[in-house]
Amino acid sequence: MENELLKKLENKSIPEQLNILENEFRGKIVFSTSLGQEDQVITDFIFKNNIAIKVFSLDTGRLFEETYKVLQKTNEKYNQKIQVYFPEYEHVEKLVSEKGPYSFYESVENRKECCNIRKVIPLNKALSGMKCWITGLRAEQSAARNDLPLISWDDHYQLYKFNPLKDWNLEQVVDYLRMNSVPYNPLHDKGFVSIGCAPCTRAIKAGEDIRRGRWWWEDNTKKECGLHEHSDNEEKDKTNLSQFVKKI
Ligand code: ADX
Ligand code: SF4
Repeated sequence: MENELLKKLENKSIPEQLNILENEFRGKIVFSTSLGQEDQVITDFIFKNNIAIKVFSLDTGRLFEETYKVLQKTNEKYNQKIQVYFPEYEHVEKLVSEKGPYSFYESVENRKECCNIRKVIPLNKALSGMKCWITGLRAEQSAARNDLPLISWDDHYQLYKFNPLKDWNLEQVVDYLRMNSVPYNPLHDKGFVSIGCAPCTRAIKAGEDIRRGRWWWEDNTKKECGLHEHSDNEEKDKTNLSQFVKKI
């Protein structure tokens, strides 16, 4: 199936690819947007061409003010609505009450716990019952993403994952946004390349690794939030999380 899909997508433009997949997975295909620059390109392709793919965003509750403005402007420009998923409020209440609002700076474990509560659990909800998940991942973003396929079966989420911008470089992304007057986060013009939650994102210097702008206090090898990478300790992580959730 993977190869068949790949064949159908070969030598097609991104809007054509999106239409092919929409046809294939009707009603069961979604695009997750962080409202960052790559994702704004894909949102533009979907909304401008009226492709019936649900666009959703995970609102962690810790996003930049500028990010919310991108959400508002995007909904207005295309006269469409990006669906927003929130974390379970009991999880956030318990986390912040017990560990304070900045527990993620204290250890990788705490950081992953926060990402689990604010992103991964809501993502699971958003992807539940879906057959195809579109992301704005690019191969050049990090070593961990170097081998990114165009489309592949994701065993963890039990769906196909489609990465239409996998071979785009940053310049292409920026040029597309400017040429097509797509709303984008003004923080990108201030050295913020990859934008996530405000307390965990910072600007980088020219030539610095893109991922240096995220969770900069952590070792480089651990810098994925669990949306796209599943650790060897996944089962253990899940157990910890379910214990945490049970305690509520
Ligand atoms: S992360 O794993 O480090 O947070 P990154 O910011 O590079 O991910 O974004 C990669 C892709 O993950 C985005 O193109 C988007 O599809 C998805 N993504 C990341 N953050 C969010 C979010 N808050 N809401 C929805 N999708 C997201
Ligand atoms: Fe929490 Fe930071 Fe992860 Fe956002 S990026 S969910 S604030 S640890």
